[in-house]
This record gives sequence, structure tokens and C-alpha cells, in this order.
Amino acid sequence: MAVKIGDKTRSVIKRDSKVMINTTRESYPFVPDRGDGDFVYDIEGNRFIDFSTFISVYNIGVNANKEVRDAAKKQIDLLMHSAFTDYYNEKPVAFAEKLISFMPKGFGRVFFSNSGTEANEAAIKFAKLFTDRSHIIAFYGAFHGRTGGSLGLTASKAIQRKHFGPFPNVTHAPYAYCYRCPLKLEYPSCGIACADVIKKEILSKAVPENEVAAIFMEPIQGEGGYIVPPKEFVKKIRKTADDIGALLVADEVQSGYMRTGKFLAMENFGVDADIYTMAKSLGGGLPFAATVTRSSLGNIPKGAHANTFGGNLVAVAAANASLEYLRRNMKGLASGIMKRSSYMMRRLNEMKDKYDIVGDVRGIGLMIGVEFVKDKKTKEPAAEQVEKILLECFNKGLLLLPSGMSTIRIIPALNAGMDNIEKGLDIFEEAVAKISRG
Ligand SMILES: Cc1ncc(COP(=O)(O)O)c(C=O)c1O
Repeated sequence: MAVKIGDKTRSVIKRDSKVMINTTRESYPFVPDRGDGDFVYDIEGNRFIDFSTFISVYNIGVNANKEVRDAAKKQIDLLMHSAFTDYYNEKPVAFAEKLISFMPKGFGRVFFSNSGTEANEAAIKFAKLFTDRSHIIAFYGAFHGRTGGSLGLTASKAIQRKHFGPFPNVTHAPYAYCYRCPLKLEYPSCGIACADVIKKEILSKAVPENEVAAIFMEPIQGEGGYIVPPKEFVKKIRKTADDIGALLVADEVQSGYMRTGKFLAMENFGVDADIYTMAKSLGGGLPFAATVTRSSLGNIPKGAHANTFGGNLVAVAAANASLEYLRRNMKGLASGIMKRSSYMMRRLNEMKDKYDIVGDVRGIGLMIGVEFVKDKKTKEPAAEQVEKILLECFNKGLLLLPSGMSTIRIIPALNAGMDNIEKGLDIFEEAVAKISRG
């Protein structure tokens, strides 16, 4: 059904433009009101299938589920805030224990915060404390957040950094973006040469290796364009970190929480990091984040790091109910994600064969990106076409988000109904067909 936008929406957008500081608002006029599972309704009563999970926050469905909401409501009536970094409390501790049980063996300490950027700020500080070193290596295309430390690591769009530097003690290395190889090579004959740049160029010419505290990486780049590196790339980066005595930090803020069919996206690459950061879906819809460290790293000195709201009891209650849902449904969820994923990948790859503007389809599990180009040979990014496809889908009742230069990310709930996955893809294909005709 065609979406109808009226005065209610126009009025909110007008008032917003007068009082709110600019952020990254999408160009389509979406003002959500309520949601449930696969669907969200705007303030005009239009219904949308959600393929955005509201930026990877609703992995278990829009507005989470009743158990999550009830747990949060119950905690509101008991005690909302307990100053967890100052006073002891059993509930965040029990949640930390549960979270650790989802982690690879050997992980044993947790710090709670409220957002992805804070989880990464904590990881930066912990890595520096644990190694007594000060330099960080991150990757081009990375997005780790927008506060002082994490913004230094972010290198996804120049506008995000403009005016805010300098960012000392950070060096960026090429990421394995095989569709647009930064070294103009081809996988697999390249031998994953991009991963060697850290040793061959950065460490030999610019950064003494015994000054590197950590290498930060997203196992799959999110905001950078849903870029899936070859397994060997992640393995080589792990080895580089080991060879120079640096820690490997995996930012799982977007890729974690079963998005790829595994609790951590790193599990798809056969190596572990030393520190994991998580946020977004971890809070079941509330602001919540965690930095999880390898037990052997020990602890940080008392007073070196803390915050006000980390371990907030309402957020912990929601996070706990959501994680409990994952725990109970783990097997079925994992196989369901793979079933949905293979159906989606098949259809999207058919679209790639059919439409000139679909350049690349990539992803693991339900973290899928479709990159649009003006020409399959030149691979010129098709940013305007992406905007048009997003708007066309919105007008037909499908919510999607862009990422990178000209990629659309397809990230439905992990438990989305197959019928809605099919309907969503039908709307998407109609839009791609229309925009590709010009
Ligand atoms: C991989 C990754 N890290 C960190 C962040 C920052 O998270 P937040 O916006 O909660 O600070 C994001 C946000 O999109 C992200 O995708």
C-alpha cells in the first residue's frame, strides 16, 4: 500500500528543523510512532516492514518483545539507577556473568557504558593501560564512534572528522574492501597484501611496533559499506597484533549479537580478539554497551575509569531479558538466520545479474549490503540512485538505511517472518528495477 504523508509529519519535520542540531537524518520523511516485531507504524498510521532494525538496535524485532518490556517496567518501579560504578549491585554482575557465557573461552571482565562510542573509548583506555603503550592502528572505512578517542579511529567519511582533529597516536591501514581493492589487486591472487601494509609500511616507516597498544577492527565494516573481508585478512591482522605484542580489539557494536548467525561476527573468521565492544542490540532497545576483556589481561587500577550510568538497572533488566531470549532460542535462531540469509542472498544475487546498477552483494547471516554503481565496469558509486531507491522503498512501506558511498544495508530482525522478508524483497526489487530504468 502506498504510504501517505500528511500535515502531522510535515509539522514535526518543520519544528525539528528549528530547534534540533543537525545529525544524519535520512532524506525520507519518517516519523515513527509505534512498532511490533517486523512492523513499525508512523504517526500517520502508515505501516512499514522494517529492514533497518533501527540501526541494528532491534535485532529481536521492533520494540523488542514483551519479556524485555516487562522486565524494564518492573525494574522502573523498584529502582532505576543504582550508581553501579560506585555502589555494588547483583543485577549488573549477574548480567556480566551471563554475557561472559556467550563469549569465547578466556573472557572474564566487563565494563558497562551507554553507547558504542563509550564502549570503544573504554577499550582504547584499557588497551593503553594493559600494554603501557599509546598508539592505536585502525582501518580506513572504520566507524567506531564520534567522541574524542573513538572519532580518531573512525575513518569512514571525512565530514565526520572535519574540524575535530588533531587525533594523535592513531594510524590507519587499508581494509580488505575487495570489491574496490585499495591496492588495485584481485582476491585471492593478491595474497591479502592489504593486511601486510601494517608491517611493511606503517611499522617499518612510521610507528615503532613497541608503541602500538592495539589494532581496532570491525570484523565486518558497518557504516563503511557493509564490507566483509576474507577470512585470511582477519587472521593476518590477529597474527600481526600477536607478533608486535599489541591487543586486537573487535568492535562488534553493529556486527555482534547474532547479526551474522553467530553471537560475535569474529567467530566467522576463526580467531578471537582480546577485547570486544558491544552496544546497539545489547540493550534490548535501551542505551547500553559493554567492553569485554580477556581474563589474562587482568584489571585496571581503581579510579582509572568509571561513569555515571554504566550498569543502569533499567537497561540491565532489558538487556538481561533480551539475552535470555537469545539463550533460550539460540539454536532455532541460528538456523533461522541462515535460512533467511540464503533466501535473501539468492534473490539479491539474481538482482545483481539482472540490473546494471547492482554492483555487489555481500554479507554474512543477516548483515547484508548491496552496493550500487553507475556502471559495472567503472564501478562509479551510484549515490543518487541509492537515495532514490531508499525513497521509493519508503513510499511503498519498506524501511531501509544506506551505508558507505553507495550501499544499502539489509538488516531485518533475526526472527523476521519469512513472508515479510519476501514482501520486503519484492518492494526492494520493484524499486531497483524502476530506478535502474532511469
Ligand atoms: C561498529 C560501530 N561502532 C561504534 C558505533 C558507535 O555507536 P554509538 O552510536 O552507540 O556511539 C557504531 C554506530 O553506528 C558502529 O556501527
